[in-house]
Amino acid sequence: MSQGLDDVIAAETRLSSVDGARGVLVVKGFSLDRLAGQKRFEDVAHLLFEGLLDDLPDAKAFAARLGAAREAVYPLAQYIDDALLALPPMDGVRALTARIEDGEDVATALRLLAAPAVLLPAFLRRRRGLAPIAPDAKSGHAADMLHMLTGEVPAPEVAAALDTYLVTVADHGLNASTFAARVVSSTWSGLTSSVLAGLAALKGPLHGGAPGPIIAMLDGIGKPENAESWIEDALDRGDRLMGFGHRIYKVRDPRADALKAAVKRMSADSSALPGRLKLAEAVERAALKVLHKRKPDRPLDVNVEFYTALLLEALGFPPDAFTAVFATGRTAGWLAHAREQRLTGRLIRPQSVYVGPEPAELV
Ligand code: ACO
Repeated sequence: MSQGLDDVIAAETRLSSVDGARGVLVVKGFSLDRLAGQKRFEDVAHLLFEGLLDDLPDAKAFAARLGAAREAVYPLAQYIDDALLALPPMDGVRALTARIEDGEDVATALRLLAAPAVLLPAFLRRRRGLAPIAPDAKSGHAADMLHMLTGEVPAPEVAAALDTYLVTVADHGLNASTFAARVVSSTWSGLTSSVLAGLAALKGPLHGGAPGPIIAMLDGIGKPENAESWIEDALDRGDRLMGFGHRIYKVRDPRADALKAAVKRMSADSSALPGRLKLAEAVERAALKVLHKRKPDRPLDVNVEFYTALLLEALGFPPDAFTAVFATGRTAGWLAHAREQRLTGRLIRPQSVYVGPEPAELV
């Protein structure tokens, strides 16, 4: 029995590999630094889907079909009502995604891939009392998402920063939400159900729910010189530091550096971002120092979520929407894994050890 399934191998995959000792992420034969900032999200999604979906169009047609899928799911924004707007954005996106019919075909996969990019901006605008903005099928996926959020066509480097983010988080081995998506897919339930399972698992703070609280931590710390004492106090209270530690990485998460580089590229044109970055770097240094002092035998380092928080804040997403932006990228991985699992035809059904009372008649 392995609590948390540490070291249990539960799938064979051609999609991605996470080398936790060396800090290397490989997606379909490419190391992350060959993809993040180099390829568009739609091309990486296409790369992940290759060999897994019947009638998958070539990469160029795939990007056009994804644009059309954004238009096809836009009418779901009409179901954003006051009850939905009272929920966190991640729950709102999950409820809206649940309206997409289940299926195993490329059209279903495209609608699911398009959904968060369209429905999250529509949700956030409605929450601010603004009308949603319709997608532009001809735009790049990341640029269109930002246009639907702000109403302005983003500068190329701003769209590129979101593109880098979506690519960076597109797939990451058998993480909790991907495993959840694979379990559901293994029952032959369908791609919508698998993506809903992924969304449900991702939102927890131990997985994709960490970056929102990171902003609260940075705001609470305020100035670099406060970092160490704030962190000591938080750990004294028994809190975990969001953005640090990882089940697989025993060294620095390579995605943190890909995102930090994107933040640095954006900060050249920003008045607020350089100061924010300086504060984040001071918090990172202080957190590592304190964590290493308190847990010398645990290799705790920075994870993907830390610089995610900075990047998504700079792009104009509110902290409570960060997890749903994460889902926008990770949906590509969930869909690919769900199809890969489905093609094995094998139901995932592990066993448990019963430690409860035995019936009296058997004792
Ligand atoms: N802050 C403080 N202490 C920590 C942290 C942290 N961020 N991470 C781990 N620890 C401590 C644990 O309390 C534990 O201490 P103990 O041995 O005295 O009990 C020890 O380090 C090992 O922790 P585990 O829980 O065994 O590590 P696990 O592999 O289960 O945890 C996890 C990984 C859940 C990510 C953890 O590091 C954590 O809670 N981090 C903060 C939340 C976070 O950033 N989540 C995003 C992860 S990235 C992603 O999913 C996309």
